[in-house]
Amino acid sequence: MIPPYGRPAQELLAELSALKAADLPVRGGKVTAYVYDTGRPEVHEAAHLAYAEMLEVNMLDPTAFPSMVALEKEVVGAVAELLGRPGAPGIFTSGGTESIMLAVKAARDSRPGGSQIVVPVTAHPAFHKAAHYLGLEVVPVPVDPVTFRASTAAVEAAIGERTVLVVASAPSYPQGVVDPVEEIAALASSKGVLCHVDACVGGWLLPWLREAGADVPPFDLGVPGVTSISCDLHKFGYAPKGASVLLFRDAALRRKAYFASAAWPGYTIINATVQSSRSAGPLGGAWATLRSLGREGYLELGRTTLEATRRLVKGVGEIPGLRVLGEPEASLVAIAGSPEVDVFVVSDEARRLGWFLQPQLSYAGIPANLHITVTGVTLAGIDALLKVIAEAAEAARRKGPAVVPDGLPELIAGLDLDALDDATFTELAASVGIELGGTDLGGMAVVNAVLDALPADTRETVLVRFLSAMYA
Ligand SMILES: Cc1ncc(COP(=O)(O)O)c(C=O)c1O
Repeated sequence: MIPPYGRPAQELLAELSALKAADLPVRGGKVTAYVYDTGRPEVHEAAHLAYAEMLEVNMLDPTAFPSMVALEKEVVGAVAELLGRPGAPGIFTSGGTESIMLAVKAARDSRPGGSQIVVPVTAHPAFHKAAHYLGLEVVPVPVDPVTFRASTAAVEAAIGERTVLVVASAPSYPQGVVDPVEEIAALASSKGVLCHVDACVGGWLLPWLREAGADVPPFDLGVPGVTSISCDLHKFGYAPKGASVLLFRDAALRRKAYFASAAWPGYTIINATVQSSRSAGPLGGAWATLRSLGREGYLELGRTTLEATRRLVKGVGEIPGLRVLGEPEASLVAIAGSPEVDVFVVSDEARRLGWFLQPQLSYAGIPANLHITVTGVTLAGIDALLKVIAEAAEAARRKGPAVVPDGLPELIAGLDLDALDDATFTELAASVGIELGGTDLGGMAVVNAVLDALPADTRETVLVRFLSAMYA
């Protein structure tokens, strides 16, 4: 609805606050995914001010706004310094997905005729998205069922004539473990294939954890054979959203990520990213966060993050019915349940206690689990977190597993979902007790259990329907 007349900023902000009342809190550490809190309000304040200062600078044209070129060089330079190759060329992007999209594009355009990317099953779906958008095919690679690290032998078997890129994660999001980057990169190099390390979540985390005493294997641009690496500053860089850096082995590869067009009678188009016009706000926010924390700040956050992770892993190991999957090098922890303790119910129970633990569905033989991203602020509340997990697990044991309505997965799998309109889909969901579009998402266990019972391609179709119905 177009408002009939204008209103003062204060009124608008009051309305925003009211709307946000139903949101998960972005500060305080009770939301253990999506958000990254340093626990230092002054750092976030500096980022907000710098973000606002740069908000209206348009990154479309670097000749018009030299301030943003200077900021981007500084931010990219800092990431290159931390990730094994000072001075490496890079691009500031809007996030992990865009960095990955551009890495895949650079690889595709470096090998005309190539059509495949080799991707471990634990790698982020951004690679599937990139392949989908760029007209490539994903060749999936299994991971070790115990360590959850990509199997080098399987990577070797998957590389073929048409491979343009091999992927390794440092770490993978689902279990927080680092793939054998040295082996995979050496293999790719021996076959003349490019190798991207997805360090979106770990790039600005693992070096600090290592400095704080963690055992972190080599994973960065200093490893022979690694040709590009992505590192999100809006994750463990603690910058506001919209900030990632993609680094390349050399400027020639970076040029393959760029896009220019002179095929119209308008202004010249030369883009480093997927977006054309875009705000320099996120760049300003990232720049200010890096400067506001500095080396010392990040190292201290690394220390507290490492300690909190160790305490979490140990504490979860002592809760009956729960176990940690693998041995994460990073501060991302996956907690699996048991026949008596359903993790989807644990998640709902934790939500009732005011905490968000992110459900992850089973896939490729890996069981369903709960994801916790430990950040700088976690240590302050680690005892409370462990208490909540233990209480939620106990409640889940009492309640028993989420019950999937009899025959529902088969019914859904047999439906022509494309033929249903959003209203009918919403009714269908309501008929099995799932209210779409409501704000009370406290009871998601059945939804997750139903999704978990479906094959991946049906899950995808259902998820698209969910989203469409939510915005109806
Ligand atoms: C390993 C990894 N890669 C890529 C991404 C995608 O990042 P974004 O959500 O910023 O697009 C994520 C996000 O969690 C991630 O963990």
